[in-house]
Amino acid sequence: MSAPKKLFIKTYGCQMNVYDSERMAEALGGEGYVETKSPDDADMILLNTCHIREKAAEKVYSELGRFKGLKAEKPDLKIGVAGCVAQAEGQEIMRRQPLVDLVVGPQSYHRLPEMEAKARTGEKVLDTDFPEEDKFEKLKNRPKAKRGPTAFLTVQEGCDKFCAFCVVPYTRGAEVSRPADRILREAQDLVERGVREITLLGQNVNAYHGAGLNGDMTLAQLIWELDKVDGLERIRFTTSHPNDMQDDLIEAHGTCAKLMPYLHLPVQAGSDKILKRMNRAHTAESYLRLIERIRAARPDILISGDFIVGFPEETEEDFQATLDLVEEVKYGTAYSFKYSTRPGTPAAERAQVDPAAADDRLQRLQALLTKQQREVQDSMVGRDVTVLFEKAGRFPGQMVGKSDYLHAVHVADCDRAIGDLARVRILSSGANSLAGALIEK
Ligand code: 5AD
Ligand code: SF4
Repeated sequence: MSAPKKLFIKTYGCQMNVYDSERMAEALGGEGYVETKSPDDADMILLNTCHIREKAAEKVYSELGRFKGLKAEKPDLKIGVAGCVAQAEGQEIMRRQPLVDLVVGPQSYHRLPEMEAKARTGEKVLDTDFPEEDKFEKLKNRPKAKRGPTAFLTVQEGCDKFCAFCVVPYTRGAEVSRPADRILREAQDLVERGVREITLLGQNVNAYHGAGLNGDMTLAQLIWELDKVDGLERIRFTTSHPNDMQDDLIEAHGTCAKLMPYLHLPVQAGSDKILKRMNRAHTAESYLRLIERIRAARPDILISGDFIVGFPEETEEDFQATLDLVEEVKYGTAYSFKYSTRPGTPAAERAQVDPAAADDRLQRLQALLTKQQREVQDSMVGRDVTVLFEKAGRFPGQMVGKSDYLHAVHVADCDRAIGDLARVRILSSGANSLAGALIEK
């Protein structure tokens, strides 16, 4: 038997890409590939790319340039670009970087084995179609390999919202939800392989409306079905749009014990003028009232968000409205970005904000968000939380896991195994994590 071929995958961007990279590795696993951690000994290199901001796309080209020497040494090495840059700039990639053999868009990963075979014959292969079939159904799992205690599971892809700054509706296409029975089967399989916590993924996950036995299901209904899966202890979901936060989902946060008290709910900006120009279809006030309702259902929920500063036509006053909104919500964690022009999106045509002003606003927003994050993390000291252990710590006897609120927690003198859940009293709050002790039963 010949030695297995080696596959190196580098993943950029969101959790959806992390999930997709796993599926690609499984698809090529069926063709005799095993994963390697280094590009140097790879027979195939795949970059699973992100197109959300300009910097993310540019990184791909500089990374590709670095493989020139490797390819010269090893002519059989095949280099592929997957993900959203592949979808958006497929032809352009082939033109700009001749060492690329294969370009595959996010909807075509199930065709990777055939594409790889073609690339091996020396052909250049490009597939960025949006086929009708369910790509996940075609991506067979390998024999039941054991997994870590947490996993992602994609339940819907694409987005119909068309926020004026965003490429997702173009790169990932229209919103498509997977049927519930397939998701439940995949969840069951993950649990059999050791998974205790599943994060349901979708670009617009709370718009989920996949087919169920009695018609389309909401995300909350899907969560209640997953709640019945024995051995599955925790459910999370990301990313949500405020306008799709339906009543049953809000209610589930108060009543479903497996649904974790953490919600990533991007608002992007706090000025109604900017929200309107972003085509967000909600106001600052409607977002704040929504947060109130969610907190009424689950008072201890940790709220996370995304923000863009320096969106075209943002004034200092508009930016102040973002700071005011942040003050009112009090975020447990947040991601904030300087607006990045994406060709082909409506906002790209508009008058841009002075970059120095945008930098300054980003710094001020990040200072406030960091302060809030600190306060929320510090407020955990003295509280009892449940921790799902994910790995051994740096010190003997120490274990590291995540609390219900997604904080990393270090526990010393811990006799529990990876995948165990335990009640932990939080004793101190460090730079990026908490430390606690097991509460003996
Ligand atoms: N510029 C800056 N940030 C962006 N995001 C999406 N598109 C852009 C852009 N053009 C941010 C949004 C989104 C997150 C995933 O990335 O905040 O919620
Ligand atoms: Fe992009 Fe999210 Fe807006 Fe969809 S809802 S267009 S993914 S920012």
